Amino acid sequence: MRYSKIVGLGHHVPETVITNQYLSTVMETNDEWIVERTGIKERRWMDPTKDTVGNMAAKAARIALQRASLTEKDIDFIVFATITPDYFFPGSGVLLQRELGLEGIGALDIRNACSGFIYALSVADQFIKSGMYKTILVVGAEIQSTAIDVSTRGRNTAVIFADGAGAAILQPSDKPGILSTHLHSDGRFAEELYVRDPGSSRPREERQPEQILDTTHFKVVMNGNQVFKHAVVRFMEVINEALHANGMKKEDIDLLVPHQANLRISQYIQEKLALRDDQVYNNIMRYGNTTAASIPIAMSEAWAEGKMKENDVICLAAFGSGFTWASALIRW
Ligand code: COA
Repeated sequence: MRYSKIVGLGHHVPETVITNQYLSTVMETNDEWIVERTGIKERRWMDPTKDTVGNMAAKAARIALQRASLTEKDIDFIVFATITPDYFFPGSGVLLQRELGLEGIGALDIRNACSGFIYALSVADQFIKSGMYKTILVVGAEIQSTAIDVSTRGRNTAVIFADGAGAAILQPSDKPGILSTHLHSDGRFAEELYVRDPGSSRPREERQPEQILDTTHFKVVMNGNQVFKHAVVRFMEVINEALHANGMKKEDIDLLVPHQANLRISQYIQEKLALRDDQVYNNIMRYGNTTAASIPIAMSEAWAEGKMKENDVICLAAFGSGFTWASALIRW
């Protein structure tokens, strides 16, 4: 049986640190409210003179390659998860392919928001298992800071979303590896967390700049209560689904790496699964919610801190816009 295995992890975040204190100078909010509701203390925002989704992804990818003792030339396919591409089209995969100088290889874009990295991992896993590719670069990278409304009107999202990139390299292995992935969606809730424009299904005049300047249609809109209520249910469901599919119990999890949506959501899941603090990796305090980048950034840090050891059972789980939710169980 052919499995796929993560052989390298890397991440890159912008240098600019945005503290809660800074946010309280540009909108009506405060450190206490943000920490109590989200757990976030600071996050990174891009510097327009330096950072793009594509080049942050390339930096994360190069670290992952180096840790795997591989080079760019070894990559034969890219799966790129982002909902904040550098261009409306083409997608970010081709920009990363260009940045890494990988002539002609395929590059696929995945747009499943906070679940994007697990969706991307699942696609790459199938390609490796089928024998189609040998070394796949899977990336989650986002620049959310330019799509949030940095005013009191947008404070429920401005304090949460942030920028960064994470990468994983997958290769075949004769032992697991990725044990299983589980993907779900429910589009009835699409507008509970979304950026409306530049959507195509509008009268032409609504897509003209003078019509859109004064709207919130290009900003993140979120019904925080709805997101929270669904997230806590779906996270648990999809983690249990992964355990069940592999004949495992919650006691078998060595490390849970949840999408860094909100510290309160992670704490809720931790309690339900009766996991110790050292069994759940959280870095939302330092980076906020970086959507598709949050899981690979967290995995990269957890690996660097020695928290993912050979044979450990690692559980990834995510929930986000769509709504979409997903999990992956990995034997490290
Ligand atoms: N600072 C201060 N006050 C804020 C605020 C901020 N950044 N954002 C919202 N508020 C205010 C609201 O305006 C509201 O004021 P009001 O009572 O005068 O109307 C009050 O705080 C409570 O708002 P509410 O939205 O009910 O708060 P909440 O307890 O639901 O917390 C979230 C808001 C966004 C933190 C919470 O809903 C949440 O975490 N949701 C999940 C979000 C998430 O995980 N998203 C990512 C999914 S991938």
